[in-house]
Amino acid sequence: MLELFKSVIEKGILKKIILSKPADKKILKSVATLVNMKGELYLQIETFTSDGKATHRNIKVSDAPDALGQMVGTEYNQINVLTSAGEAQIKVSGKGKVTLLNRIKDKGERVTVQGHDRKKQHIISATEPVDFLFELGVKDKDGRVFDKKRSKFRQINRFLELLSEAYTFPSDRELYILDLCCGKSYLSFAVYYYFTVLRGMSVTMDCVDLKEDVIEYCNSVAQKLGYTGLHFIAGDINDFEPKAAPDLTVSLHACDIATDIVLAKAVTSGSKVIMSTPCCHHEMMHQLKAGGSDCDFMLTHSILMQKLCDAATDSLRCLMLESKGYDVTALELIDPEETPKNVLIRGIFNDKCSDQKKEAKRKEYDSICQRLGVEPYLAKLI
Ligand SMILES: C[S@@+](CC[C@H](N)C(=O)[O-])C[C@H]1O[C@@H](n2cnc3c(N)ncnc32)[C@H](O)[C@@H]1O
Repeated sequence: MLELFKSVIEKGILKKIILSKPADKKILKSVATLVNMKGELYLQIETFTSDGKATHRNIKVSDAPDALGQMVGTEYNQINVLTSAGEAQIKVSGKGKVTLLNRIKDKGERVTVQGHDRKKQHIISATEPVDFLFELGVKDKDGRVFDKKRSKFRQINRFLELLSEAYTFPSDRELYILDLCCGKSYLSFAVYYYFTVLRGMSVTMDCVDLKEDVIEYCNSVAQKLGYTGLHFIAGDINDFEPKAAPDLTVSLHACDIATDIVLAKAVTSGSKVIMSTPCCHHEMMHQLKAGGSDCDFMLTHSILMQKLCDAATDSLRCLMLESKGYDVTALELIDPEETPKNVLIRGIFNDKCSDQKKEAKRKEYDSICQRLGVEPYLAKLI
């Protein structure tokens, strides 16, 4: 174990070490990475606790293998060592038996160690006051992100990063944007802020959700901030009629088939760009449970069945968008350690996509559904 820690550090292949299954129940997990502080290399251990806080401690790199070794089985019962050359896992059983599974095969790819003082360039500043983030309780009035909202802050920024690199939106006219199933609408405010405040563009944005009280609250915040183009509408997205073909449709964690309604609404209203992060995937679970497909062997263990349904549902969604002429990319929204619901489906309408290609994609879609014995809701809507 000590050799393993020593060699991944010395070879420069260590990405991070995740320390989980802690002995102290107040601790959720710790993540250790190498950082460079004033020219000296340290192993920085960030510990996340159940009260939403994160603490750091820095260990001199020469002391790191021993320090990690001492934590195994005393502070943590599972340690995953992630490197550029594969992964190793150390597990300590209830009886104290230590197992090491080493899948690291060094091919010479080195990891760049980040400086401790580096400033990550977020699209929305992590340190400056931002009006909507203050109103929504993500930042205090001086611009500091509240500990409990760090994950939300990272999620919003990552979404904006993936939006900003997706497509060059026209700046010579007003943009029309939708957020469907907007909920408390952190994302709606962020997208509106990004285009209007950071990019000086003119935007009308319609955001729809079933929850009347939340919609009323969001409208009051928009009014208070003077976000005159940002409108919140209470209602079912099934019944919502967009005013025009949207330049962009966004949706974050619309539950189960609500994501299908979002995608169908975006496609049928001619949205140029679609960015949707699906939520739970129950629909396919129910259909696959009936059995009789090639995937039956993957249905025995519910955790694997869940992963199969998540991946199959979202892959079929991507394929359906492609069959409608979208260039589609499935991206990772945030660190999967923060939430498993971290896939972002990004579609950009390609008006040069041939009918032949669209037909081929639809045939492929139908054939996969047949093989799996499923009838996804999205296919019924489109
Ligand atoms: C998990 S929440 C996500 C909210 C928000 N996008 C976020 O990420 O914070 C899902 C939201 O979808 C809304 N929703 C579900 N089905 C809907 C429908 N058919 N029409 C409108 N809103 C719907 C719910 O009211 C809920 O606010």
